[in-house]
Amino acid sequence: MSNRPFIVGNWKMNGNRAMLAEARAIDRGAARCPGVRVGIAPPFTLVNTMADAVQAALIGAQDCHAEASGAFTGDISAAMLADAGAQFVIVGHSERRALHGENDAAVKAKAEAALAAGLEVIVCVGETEAERDAGKAEKVVCKQLDGSLPQGEGVAARVTVAYEPVWAIGTGRVPSVEDVGAMHRAIRARLSAIYGEDGAGVQILYGGSVNAKNAEELLGADEVGGALVGGASLTADSFLAIVLAAAGPGAE
Ligand code: 13P
Repeated sequence: MSNRPFIVGNWKMNGNRAMLAEARAIDRGAARCPGVRVGIAPPFTLVNTMADAVQAALIGAQDCHAEASGAFTGDISAAMLADAGAQFVIVGHSERRALHGENDAAVKAKAEAALAAGLEVIVCVGETEAERDAGKAEKVVCKQLDGSLPQGEGVAARVTVAYEPVWAIGTGRVPSVEDVGAMHRAIRARLSAIYGEDGAGVQILYGGSVNAKNAEELLGADEVGGALVGGASLTADSFLAIVLAAAGPGAE
């Protein structure tokens, strides 16, 4: 793992070849901010081309199958992603959990497959609004961590956790800095319980309506090691403003 802030753009089901120009511009910005690790997760169709087009940015995917190959029509394995030039994969995004019925065990199997293929993995967790209102947010997130994180010797060094409250995704609503800090501290404690000493090195990203205006404040919350950005990652202008916020004073 790196001590540098990690800013990752999740393009979701957006992007075509014309948008490679944005990726190249993001890459040039990333090269000017060596103190920040910058990642882009385009749709599968662009992973290979984008990996060839960039130098400073890391390219990843938004999902993978748990098996390395086989009769799984329409699916993509982690080994295929590695072969296409991906360096990381996001697993367990709340949209996958909600819209594709992925449970913690499925997410864990995908994370293990990603590591086996030599990829880094970003494991997403986060509570719904009803769970937060019921005072269960930390309990829900800790249960997701217990069930979704890959286990094993040396594994923690290639794992990143992304905390994305479901109610903050694509809504323009964000938790208070205090609430983000409290959840990230709870996640840190759980990581230490799961990984022992290695848990201290796992980066924890915040995701959910991060933009140029709120990035500095959110990135300053306790235990926030970076951001997983959806909508604001689709143009170089808005995404690089977040990268600059992570780079801190003096970056341009
Ligand atoms: P938005 O930044 O569009 O809220 O999306 C967050 C997200 O889901 C990133 O994975």
